[in-house]
Amino acid sequence: MAFWWPLLVLGFAFAICRFLLMLIPPNVPSIDVDTSDMVDDGNQTKENSFIYIPSRGRTPDKVQCYEPATMKYMGFFPALEPVEVKERVEQARKAQKIWAKSSFRQRRQFLRILLKYIIEHQELICELSSRDTGKTMVDASLGEIMTTCEKITWLLSEGERWLKPEYRSSGRSMLHKTSKVEFHPLGVIGAIVSWNYPFHNIFNPMLAAVFSGNSVVIKVSEHASWSGCFYFRIIQAALNVVGAPENLVDIITGFAETGEALVSSADKIIFVGSPGIGRMIMRNAAETLTPVTLELGGKDAFIVCEDVDVHHVAQVAVRAALQSSGQNCAGAERFYVHRGIYSSFVAEVVKIVKSVSVGPPLSGRYDMGALCLIEHSEKLQSLVIDALDKGAQIVARGSFGNLSEGAVDQFFPPTVIVNVNHSMKLMQEEAFGPIMPIMKFSSDEEAVKLANDSKYGLGCAVFSGSKRRAKEIASQLHIGVAAINDFASNYMCQSLPFGGVKHSGFGRFAGVEGLRACCLVKSVVEDRWWPYIKTMIPKPIQVSFENLFTAIIKFAFSLIGFALLQYPVSENSFEFQELLVEALYGLNVWDRLRAFANILKILTDYNSPASIKRAD
Ligand SMILES: *[C@@H]1O[C@H](CO)[C@@H](O)[C@H](O)[C@H]1NC(C)=O
Ligand SMILES: *[C@@H]1O[C@H](CO)[C@@H](O)[C@H](O)[C@H]1NC(C)=O
Ligand SMILES: *[C@@H]1O[C@H](CO)[C@@H](O)[C@H](O)[C@H]1NC(C)=O
Repeated sequence: MAFWWPLLVLGFAFAICRFLLMLIPPNVPSIDVDTSDMVDDGNQTKENSFIYIPSRGRTPDKVQCYEPATMKYMGFFPALEPVEVKERVEQARKAQKIWAKSSFRQRRQFLRILLKYIIEHQELICELSSRDTGKTMVDASLGEIMTTCEKITWLLSEGERWLKPEYRSSGRSMLHKTSKVEFHPLGVIGAIVSWNYPFHNIFNPMLAAVFSGNSVVIKVSEHASWSGCFYFRIIQAALNVVGAPENLVDIITGFAETGEALVSSADKIIFVGSPGIGRMIMRNAAETLTPVTLELGGKDAFIVCEDVDVHHVAQVAVRAALQSSGQNCAGAERFYVHRGIYSSFVAEVVKIVKSVSVGPPLSGRYDMGALCLIEHSEKLQSLVIDALDKGAQIVARGSFGNLSEGAVDQFFPPTVIVNVNHSMKLMQEEAFGPIMPIMKFSSDEEAVKLANDSKYGLGCAVFSGSKRRAKEIASQLHIGVAAINDFASNYMCQSLPFGGVKHSGFGRFAGVEGLRACCLVKSVVEDRWWPYIKTMIPKPIQVSFENLFTAIIKFAFSLIGFALLQYPVSENSFEFQELLVEALYGLNVWDRLRAFANILKILTDYNSPASIKRAD
């Protein structure tokens, strides 16, 4: 009794110490990142004084950068030649060999330094994203900052656990073995990322790759290269502080050729973009048998049953459609609303959308910003016109604020459309814009049928007062991501994988699956009680009644080993195998015991004159 007490006290003291340690702020160094050339101080320099004109600006060797919301020119980056890309990948490969030996402690310190910088520079990061893509500061905070901070904290707390060897069961014939899966870095991860969230789209693959011991080369989109090159400086500064090798992370700029060169030289490709380009990447990757993860967008359904709080769900619906001007791979693009609340839901959505003001996000308090791409509003317009031609009807649009001349085409008003059906392109093609087509349904079966009727299969959001009903609907959809009574919450749970089926692609990034997707998954089997018990090839056993006991032990050991018989095979080796299979895997325990007994008999008979006869 007495010696329990010190242990208890010790344990208690330990717990208190741990708690107190948690209160001490961790020692995380700060980094300095040069921003002098990135911040718009209002001074009109020669560079930013003119308006970007796409037809004149397009050059094959330069990636031209401009602010979509104002069309102000921001400069250019080189479009890398294939040989240059290969050179950069080689550098990254050298760096990876060193980084592969780094400790998780070092990797976590790298993450903490980044996290500290991000938290202290939220405004700067969002402003650069906003200038580069036209999104509002709030949209940037949600999609760039929060998602990235979630990812970093998840990796800090669970990353190592999911990369540690994982033990598995060994099965009946291999009882004496331990079997495990090891996760080794793959080498150089190549990521080709989209323009919609330039900060997060770089950090997302970079964090997973570097934390799992890889190097990474990221080709940023030609439509959002400017901010990416600044975000790169943050990463470099943090790598420097933890003593990581140079070139562990690289960011490259360019067009299709640059991307193709990356596909053919990296060890794995993560691609975020459209199905058309995804197909091209897969075709190129086939040449070198490079594995790919494809995240190709979606046409997500947003389903609303009649038993919901309409006021609340309407708010979520508008956020789901207008976040980042609707430029989200998992944005809500098709709204299916139960007949019973259809008119009140539409009325509520109309009210909200009419209050949305659209304008250049950094020069006023606007709810929604610009579109990132130049031709995009034309495409959205054509989808709307096609729908109107087929009988649809616009019931609400947001209003424009003070748009700068020359950038008017970069804006598209949020638009609510009713009387839509699946004959319209608006309900089939990914719009990637702030359009809300709303369609009625009468039964859950119909909602499922409509929502499932798409060539895409990324995500969905289902709303119902009954959680069970919402889950039942979501479970029937052929999709990779389902949010019950919420929108896009899956992406905030960074332990979860993200990705779709059908034309939305395959493979998963984010979560445990995404982290392990950066790994060479190696299965390893070894002896559990080495060297005492190891696999033996059963061989003739000298048996007499005196040493029957030893024989049984030996026999048992040989059974749990591979039941291959020693060369030259004996006459009854197949019979032995047959019995062994039955003894190990038989469904009936009595049959199994009988098989064991027969095996014993075969082994003990082995040295009888009858069986020796066979050889010669
Ligand atoms: C779609 O709606 C239009 C106009 O209301 C109608 O003519 C057409 O038949 C509908 N198509 C389908 C597939 O329901
Ligand atoms: C709109 O922009 C112009 C030019 O930048 C400026 O002169 C004008 O005052 C602005 N109007 C409002 C209402 O902000
Ligand atoms: C949904 O679509 C998939 C194929 O795209 C199909 O296999 C599945 O049966 C459909 N589910 C329902 C409930 O219609």
